[in-house]
Amino acid sequence: MPKVTFLPSGDVFEFEHGKLPYCDHGKPESILDVAMHFNFHLDHACGGNNACTTCHVVVKQGANHLSEMEDDEADRVETAADVQLSSRLGCQAVVKGDVVVEIPAWNRNYISEGGKSTL
Ligand code: FES
Repeated sequence: MPKVTFLPSGDVFEFEHGKLPYCDHGKPESILDVAMHFNFHLDHACGGNNACTTCHVVVKQGANHLSEMEDDEADRVETAADVQLSSRLGCQAVVKGDVVVEIPAWNRNYISEGGKSTL
């Protein structure tokens, strides 16, 4: 089962392909979809429509276990603050195997509204 680890909190979520109820936020089985399913807070101001950068994550391990970055995601993620070579948009990167991602410091929400804090 694919596993997504979120840093710096170290929260780990496992899911079975095809068994994740689609949350309608981002692509099915995207990093954002997994986070929402497990009630883990990952910002997603545009609702997972590749129209903001609040779901920006930096991939620390398992980049080859994510879907290929498409041109529209590449164009958008370039505009993110503190963009890095391994930056992805959580709503666009579909999880195909184990990955470890870090939520950039500027993007951590210190006050969680209903979801689990990322700290
Ligand atoms: Fe807006 Fe991912 S939630 S681009």
